Amino acid sequence: MENYMDSGLTGAGALVDREKRHLNYLRISITDRCNLRCLYCVPEGRIPKLGHDEILSYEEILRLVKIGIQLGIRKVRITGGEPLVRKGAVELLGRLARIRELKDVSLTTNGVLLAPNAQRIFDAGIRRINISLDSLDPKKYAQITGYDRFEQVWAGIQRAREIGFSPIKINVVAMRGINDDEIAAFGRLSLDHPFHVRFIEYMPIGNSRARSQDQILTPEIQERITAIGELIPVGNGQHDGPARRYRLAGARGEVGFISALSHHFCNRCNRLRLTADGKLRACLLSDRHESLKGLLRNGGSDEQLAEIFRIAVRRKAAEHQLCPDGATRVKDQMQGIGG
Ligand code: 5AD
Ligand code: SF4
Repeated sequence: MENYMDSGLTGAGALVDREKRHLNYLRISITDRCNLRCLYCVPEGRIPKLGHDEILSYEEILRLVKIGIQLGIRKVRITGGEPLVRKGAVELLGRLARIRELKDVSLTTNGVLLAPNAQRIFDAGIRRINISLDSLDPKKYAQITGYDRFEQVWAGIQRAREIGFSPIKINVVAMRGINDDEIAAFGRLSLDHPFHVRFIEYMPIGNSRARSQDQILTPEIQERITAIGELIPVGNGQHDGPARRYRLAGARGEVGFISALSHHFCNRCNRLRLTADGKLRACLLSDRHESLKGLLRNGGSDEQLAEIFRIAVRRKAAEHQLCPDGATRVKDQMQGIGG
């Protein structure tokens, strides 16, 4: 096992921002590419893709993780685009999982490539997995994602369950007129299966094809779920992040709500994001970022790179400025930032 604490970094220490938030969680987008085109994520027409030289190599990512650890990062999530389309993603997960200082290494995937890779991902040491699934109806799934791949994803989810991943979280972006007729069905999914179904409010990020008018806020989603049963709050644990968790009476799984717009959780935010092209972003919902790639590729020292982390943290906004009226949008595209 490599020693990630032995840095020689001066002034190393916890990343604490002006709001006294301890930023100990790094979400890493390893590619902007994806094998789906979800309508709330991907814009119309051809989208420019980052070239191979523009995205960070795994060695570069691991170096930044090492620096992050010296600054107090203890939790890492790999996202995309779709992380499993990048060659070597499972090996990267394995290398991260073997870093002793990281208490938690997890994966967010759309599940398309999960069935054939699930065992390797598990063997690499990953246990926590989030899968995006916005419809239980194969036809509608194809309308939302642009591809007829529901069965593949469902097989991936079943496989993950057989292998023993836990928890298996299912992310549902709820949109009016698109999948809001399935809110109760997703709630019921948590009755029969040990899944954590999480309803995510649509966020106006990038130039996607979804409109803010399509958004459904958590109170309305909750109201529709209570038609199937009472929502019993589940005590929030250390891994919960922004989701507010509930269980339907007698359910094997849970339902949760991520309400970035209707219920800001900025005051509890402990995240930093590393984009596929090497930018550090302190807030998903603010376009402010600090670039690490230039320094990384031009002989920057660990200390200089650490200073970029500190600058990003110092500049982290107290809270985001998006409101449910859709008047403001985040400019950068979701695929390169990672959710
Ligand atoms: N609003 C809310 N959630 C989004 N995701 C992607 N784009 C958006 C958006 N505009 C979600 C995906 C995935 C997670 C990484 O982010 O559904 O589950
Ligand atoms: Fe791909 Fe995820 Fe964006 Fe869907 S939301 S297009 S799966 S990156």
